[in-house]
Amino acid sequence: MIIPLAHRADQTQEYYFSVKLAEVRRLQAAGHDVINLGIGNPDMMPSANTIDALTKSAHQPTSHGYQSYKGTPALRQGIARFYAHTYGVTLDPETEILPLIGSKEGITHISLTFLNEGDGVLVPELGYPAYRAVSQMVGANVQEYPLLEHGGWQPDWEAMADLVTDTTKIIWLNYPHMPTGAPATRSLFEQAVRFAHDHTLLLCHDNPYSLILNKKSPISLLSVDGAKDVAVELNSLSKSHNMAGWRIGWMAGAKEYVDAVLTIKSNVDSGQFKPLMDAAAEALTNSDDWHRERNAVYQGRLDAVHALLNTLGCTYTTDQEGLFIWAKLPDSVESAEALVDDLLVNKHVFIAPGFIFGPKGNRYVRVSLCMPKERIDEAVKRLM
Ligand SMILES: Cc1ncc(COP(=O)(O)O)c(C=O)c1O
Repeated sequence: MIIPLAHRADQTQEYYFSVKLAEVRRLQAAGHDVINLGIGNPDMMPSANTIDALTKSAHQPTSHGYQSYKGTPALRQGIARFYAHTYGVTLDPETEILPLIGSKEGITHISLTFLNEGDGVLVPELGYPAYRAVSQMVGANVQEYPLLEHGGWQPDWEAMADLVTDTTKIIWLNYPHMPTGAPATRSLFEQAVRFAHDHTLLLCHDNPYSLILNKKSPISLLSVDGAKDVAVELNSLSKSHNMAGWRIGWMAGAKEYVDAVLTIKSNVDSGQFKPLMDAAAEALTNSDDWHRERNAVYQGRLDAVHALLNTLGCTYTTDQEGLFIWAKLPDSVESAEALVDDLLVNKHVFIAPGFIFGPKGNRYVRVSLCMPKERIDEAVKRLM
């Protein structure tokens, strides 16, 4: 290539799964039956009424043009009702909700909106890799805050205060936590909001797993008093409604924050396809029973995933929430990378190595629950 790349492209590595799943596809193309327990890509269907709403809307002649940059009123109203019902949080559907093309893009829009070059961003280590990657892309300074097993994978707020500098602007938080499955608690969210107030930081909470294998009622960070002054929340239908490929998420927060992010976002994309938004509004009406049944299926897969981890000699806790089980490798295993590559090449079973969520994940693996139980059983057989 004779055209030099921008520094940001030189510095950014391709997303781990983007590379690894190409390897999985190569093995599949060569005729191998790969059992992919690596990614959180729900294998179950969205609710039937969601699909019906999609096709019904697609037949309308008015459904195919450009839509508003902030989504249809029906979708925003559906999100507001969902927040009221699920979390007891009141949102103004006109001003406090911004639909997104999946919550992942919200990380970029928020970063572009609030970060100047050199600003500090507190990023969890371990955590979802996009917080770090996007912060670096916009020239911000990543300040990792450690999440440790002996600390219950929760932030140490005193230690965090020492990390804050004059330029620190944003803190990313994500509970139920991916990849460790640590649950969300009200006291954690209250501490986070207090911290953001004390240090004048924008607290960005990423909340896609609140309804997956949650042991208690799901919580939104926005339910904490004073949260809307300093915090925004990303949320998504990807995991909770089995709609990962639909790319439907949103940001919720005070009007000033939503308006500011919309200013940036409206220069990047031109909204979403109306039938997707109509169907998403329908999905948001899924009953509590629908969510319970989805969770019962995941619950039924847990034993099989535990059996797989036992076969590998891994240790894990049984109180994890979300779509994955996070497990520690036995001392006899040299490294997560070596184990994962060995399982993929020799057993055609793919699990995620912990280091992709930060160096503290070196001695861990993450196994997804997004496979039918029979397939997980088959993976266990291959490993025995
Ligand atoms: C913690 C976390 N945040 C955000 C996302 C992105 O979700 P979405 O599909 O809404 O973009 C994921 C997806 O794996 C995730 O694990």
